Amino acid sequence: MSNAIDPALFRETLGHYPTGVAVVTAVAEEDGPVGMVVGTFSSVSLDPPLIAFFPAVSSKSFARLRNARAFAINVLAADQEPLCRRLATSEADKFDGVRWRPGPLGSPILEDAVSWIECTFDLVREAGDHYVVLGLVHGLAVQRSTLPLLFFQGGYGQFSPGSFIAAPDPDLIQAAQLAETIRSQVEDLSAEFAVNCSVLVKIGADAVQVLAANQGPVAEPFPLGHRQPIVPPLGAVFLMNSTPAEVNEWLRRAPDDSLDRRDLYRTLLDKVRERGYSLLVAEPELLQRHQAVLSAFELSHRLPRQERAVRQATAELADLFCPDLVPGRRYDLASIVVPVPARADLPQLAIRVTGLPAALPTEEIEFWTRRLRRVAARAAAAMSGTLR
Ligand SMILES: Cc1cc2nc3c(=O)[nH]c(=O)nc-3n(C[C@H](O)[C@H](O)[C@H](O)COP(=O)(O)O)c2cc1C
Repeated sequence: MSNAIDPALFRETLGHYPTGVAVVTAVAEEDGPVGMVVGTFSSVSLDPPLIAFFPAVSSKSFARLRNARAFAINVLAADQEPLCRRLATSEADKFDGVRWRPGPLGSPILEDAVSWIECTFDLVREAGDHYVVLGLVHGLAVQRSTLPLLFFQGGYGQFSPGSFIAAPDPDLIQAAQLAETIRSQVEDLSAEFAVNCSVLVKIGADAVQVLAANQGPVAEPFPLGHRQPIVPPLGAVFLMNSTPAEVNEWLRRAPDDSLDRRDLYRTLLDKVRERGYSLLVAEPELLQRHQAVLSAFELSHRLPRQERAVRQATAELADLFCPDLVPGRRYDLASIVVPVPARADLPQLAIRVTGLPAALPTEEIEFWTRRLRRVAARAAAAMSGTLR
């Protein structure tokens, strides 16, 4: 850089400015429909009506776009992150299967986008390694007045209005009420075996601790209400009967979605499905790191960079997850988790035991898991009894 600004510092600092996400689309003379994702879309002038965006000089997509007669800005909605990820690639066929209709000047208007603004090129001028593009607006409309997709610190998110009152979460309230119906079983288990026992519920892509009975010898690191993103390999107990699409959704939350890692997580999931429970081996250093990033994530209002750290630290637990139990061997376990096999229309609950004795022999672990699964089955019966 000419005036010696560190490129990493430039990206890091500018990455702290949030943007919306738009797709610039056009029908290119020879290539058919083309598009590129931009975070640099901006309104410029009302009279005349002008907008701007800044494509990289190196962008292959823009090289195709700029020869079109007209182009459209499509503002993406918060639920269009998968489409955004797809159109942000350099794949030649990235537009295949994307649903759109032509605007008044023929530019692709993406289905389900929040709004579109169709323009002709007013100015394309080089500015460093980018172009400044001004578009003269010919037509525009809001087609779906919903939350837009936002981009911040390299991660996607959505707007939430500032408020002193936490948004009500009906699923969480129902889950807390359901957990109450199995309180006595959970407390009995905790007291009888001197372990910590908690109930987790799946809310969206998070596991939330809604009940705890802590009679174990060590303090439970996470308080009631603790919320943790479900990232592979964790959360497998919530996928006992789920569809391939739900499993893919889970796999996508891993920091590395290479085939090898996906295969590894699928194998671990198969083990959990077959056994009916999950185990985590105690490895203090990795677990402490995991707990530290989870706490930082919660305290940071769930910032994208902390979320990435959570994904990474969770993925590192894969080697500790669901080991093959060899008869006669002993294991230090951090936790055993069993799903509560309740009705499909209810929030999904799981019971987690921590603070287990050290060096448990395989036979004793099997005893624990049988015992826990019986408690979970009784809990499921208690839940449906209450709801009938
Ligand atoms: C959220 C987001 C915002 C982006 N903003 C811009 C942008 O303003 N300008 C740009 O040139 N590329 C931007 N990109 C990158 C392009 O969308 C895309 O990666 C690039 O067009 C693909 O490379 P190609 O055009 O060389 O095929 C952005 C990508 C994402 C994910």
